[in-house]
Amino acid sequence: MSLKDKEKWNAKYDSSICLAGREPSPWLVDHAHLLDGRGKALDIAMGEGRNTLFAASLGYDVWGVDISDVGVSRAESLARQNKLTIHTQIADLDHYKIDENTYDLILCFYFLDRRLFKGIQNGLKPGGTLVFETFTVDHLKYSSFKREWVLEKNELPESFPGLKILDYQEVDEPENETAYASLIARKEQYFMNEENDTK
Ligand SMILES: C[S@@+](CC[C@H](N)C(=O)[O-])C[C@H]1O[C@@H](n2cnc3c(N)ncnc32)[C@H](O)[C@@H]1O
Repeated sequence: MSLKDKEKWNAKYDSSICLAGREPSPWLVDHAHLLDGRGKALDIAMGEGRNTLFAASLGYDVWGVDISDVGVSRAESLARQNKLTIHTQIADLDHYKIDENTYDLILCFYFLDRRLFKGIQNGLKPGGTLVFETFTVDHLKYSSFKREWVLEKNELPESFPGLKILDYQEVDEPENETAYASLIARKEQYFMNEENDTK
């Protein structure tokens, strides 16, 4: 397990209640009409579970994965408070195999590991939906992030060739000092998974 990542994120979650806020991502909420709430969902790097809980509230049987036990236990307690059921797993995504053809919905918010892209695509069932949002290269104006931690322009839609883009945006908000891309895409019914050679 990447002990440094675990310690870093545990410390962040210890020092702040709801780092990313309690509210689900506006992109996810705005596109909820495209999500039928049936079947199994996976929230990659769930953090404190703001989007995991939202997916559960739509009716999905949701699994959330994260390296931070502090973040995950906060998500579990928020789920209990809201009388929602979620399943959680504390795991290092550097060494994580997403089960193939398993998920009706995969969420990935503000976590970027390009080695997971093929596994994400393969993990969706035909007709399954991916919702992804994270920082873009424009965000480097506002932060000291390394370039490899952010998306290049149009990188997200080009990274999932087996998915049909339902909606996509790239946003630069100087007033909030943030820049990010958001995607919602659906796996074609007849897409054949490629061999997953990376994870
Ligand atoms: C910016 S937070 C995003 C949390 C959540 N997706 C959200 O949008 O509210 C990034 C998350 O990635 C998790 N993370 C970082 N490295 C990880 C790794 N190697 N394996 C699993 N989770 C990791 C952190 O613990 C943290 O919860």
